Amino acid sequence: MTSPTLDVAFVRRQFPQLADGTAFFENAGGSLVPEPVRKRLIDFVSHSFAQPSYDSAPSRVSRQKIADGKRLAADLLGVEPEEIVLGPSTTLNFYVLSHALRPLFQPGDEVIVTDQDHEANVGAWRRLSEFGLVIREWQIDRKTGELRLADLDKLLSAKTKLVCVTHCSNVVGSVNDVAAVAQRAKKVGALTIVDGVGYAPHHLIDVRALGVDAYACSAYKIFGTHLGILWVHPDLAKRARPQAHDFLTTVPQTLNPGGLTYELVAGLGGTGDYLDLLYKHHFGSGDNSPRTRYARVFKLIEDHERKLGARIVDFLKSRKSVRLIGEDGARAPIICFTVAGKTSTEVAKALFDRKIAVGHGHFYAKRCVDALGVEGVIRISFAHYNDDAEVDRLIQALSEILPS
Ligand SMILES: Cc1ncc(COP(=O)(O)O)c(C=O)c1O
Repeated sequence: MTSPTLDVAFVRRQFPQLADGTAFFENAGGSLVPEPVRKRLIDFVSHSFAQPSYDSAPSRVSRQKIADGKRLAADLLGVEPEEIVLGPSTTLNFYVLSHALRPLFQPGDEVIVTDQDHEANVGAWRRLSEFGLVIREWQIDRKTGELRLADLDKLLSAKTKLVCVTHCSNVVGSVNDVAAVAQRAKKVGALTIVDGVGYAPHHLIDVRALGVDAYACSAYKIFGTHLGILWVHPDLAKRARPQAHDFLTTVPQTLNPGGLTYELVAGLGGTGDYLDLLYKHHFGSGDNSPRTRYARVFKLIEDHERKLGARIVDFLKSRKSVRLIGEDGARAPIICFTVAGKTSTEVAKALFDRKIAVGHGHFYAKRCVDALGVEGVIRISFAHYNDDAEVDRLIQALSEILPS
């Protein structure tokens, strides 16, 4: 029996925004929203807008729909809903986590951050220097943008308490071996905090297999609503200082100082409906567990995205004026480049004029772009709903815009 490939036409029908004809290659900034998410959002706002903590009928309905959203968030990472903290964004989740972990450290303890990461997983940790912690920077290779484990080894010592690293940079695109980072950190008694925002829209994650202590991703980049998802290892969550009201004691939800945006959490249940819709379309109905279903769907997504990515990378490599960021190897569909003699804004503008949406600039990974020695990059980041026809359009447009 041959295994199916992703039916992209079917996928595209689930995303109403695609009908506007823009070739959308700015998914690393935020993905589009499939119909089931819109339905759950509207349904919650229209029919279930009740405080979920009582035993009234509206409260029970509301609670169930919120629980569906949390379940999906947990299933994306391979953990239980009780282990998840939801917050407005990954930036805010890391900010809160940095406050919660601060009492675990002493002046003189060392924190390793990278210059490849988005600032979300750098700034909050760097501010620990105000409490006497010493910040060490794991720097990228200035030519390729890659992080090297050998450079991390030079920074690790008995003083290291925290290593903060991205699973996949929103500029370089390569997949970092975070399991290897976590192993090294553990050897010196340090914690590993991972930013999975760039990685999560493209792969089903198994956080426990990675051996990390905390992992964050953003639901609005995984065909969901505008929320940050944070997993903290239960052992660490117990040691972290609560950030919520003193009388709230459920760990790790104590890491959320405010309440939840219930309609957005409920909307996230629609991401699960969407993945199930893809499962059913490609594999028929089955009674597998959600994780098994999602794993098969993400495998289709990975294969499709790899093919599109190879076409774009091959094209960019064929142009002498292009500097492609990142080396060959495992890469999420995040492809950044610069063009000799043109600014990133100029190239992006020429693409916008052709109804092709891309990113340009530094995307809050400013340290990375600065370290690469460029004013900004053009970013082509795609998702599984992008198709070959859009890649044709992109390549055609770039052929017209770029010097050979
Ligand atoms: C790699 C990466 N990390 C972190 C973030 C921050 O996520 P949020 O917008 O949820 O704070 C982004 C956002 O673009 C990102 O691309």
